Amino acid sequence: MDADSRSDQTSRQKTPYESPRSERTSRRESPRQSPQLVVDKDGNLSLEADGVSLRGDFARLLPRLRPQNLRRELIVRATRVRGVASPVLVDATAGLGEDSLLLAAAGFSVIMFERDEKVAALLGDALRRARQDPRLSEVAGRMRLMQEDAVTGLKRLELRPDVVYLDPMFPARRKDAATNKKLQMLRMLEQPCTDEGAEALLAAALGAGPRKVVVKRPLKGPHLGGLRPSNSLAGKVVRYDILTGPPAT
Ligand SMILES: C[S@@+](CC[C@H](N)C(=O)[O-])C[C@H]1O[C@@H](n2cnc3c(N)ncnc32)[C@H](O)[C@@H]1O
Repeated sequence: MDADSRSDQTSRQKTPYESPRSERTSRRESPRQSPQLVVDKDGNLSLEADGVSLRGDFARLLPRLRPQNLRRELIVRATRVRGVASPVLVDATAGLGEDSLLLAAAGFSVIMFERDEKVAALLGDALRRARQDPRLSEVAGRMRLMQEDAVTGLKRLELRPDVVYLDPMFPARRKDAATNKKLQMLRMLEQPCTDEGAEALLAAALGAGPRKVVVKRPLKGPHLGGLRPSNSLAGKVVRYDILTGPPAT
């Protein structure tokens, strides 16, 4: 199911994920509250746990979308394909869609897969708001969300994407746990990618026949699935490994 339309419908009313107010209040007091989706009076969706609130917000990224900034983004440089008029990229691990937004702004039509239903709902809600925002509507119009596991979704694609982008959850660092409650909340929903999960994801990405697969990794992390990339672009914190596919026919 295309999750865009589903989230558009659910965000204006109680969602199946939303807990009753009494339950929300009592859970907020619990230190181990599991994240709950909540709809505010304007119909916007957020994920809440232990007083921390998380929502998708593309407007926050507007400064990074300015052309002079965008072309310096490492992710944009790593995914660039030359000589294609309307390139298509699959973001197989979309999360809250921030990388997808940068890539759509860089000119890709982006197909986003997100398997977690709560994260997909947040992303669908952010996309709905972006489509109503004149500053973001054109870019958001190139983004399509599928709430589905990418391992199966990639096999069912009816087109051959130019690029497949992977950003599976990194293992937790001590610093993250101490400083970033929002990251902790996401970690409650998703465990770091296992070796088997990484191999399945990488095999599905390569099997879709793209010109290249780009994988975001911790700067000093091992290669995903143990596969050596043809090239890497390293920043201060992360690295983009680039696996080049066979030439397009
Ligand atoms: C580190 S986050 C991605 C963050 C994203 N790049 C962004 O800019 O917001 C990883 C996301 O991938 C999703 N994910 C992991 N494996 C997946 C799979 N096989 N299919 C679809 N989604 C997957 C997780 O649920 C999680 O939301």
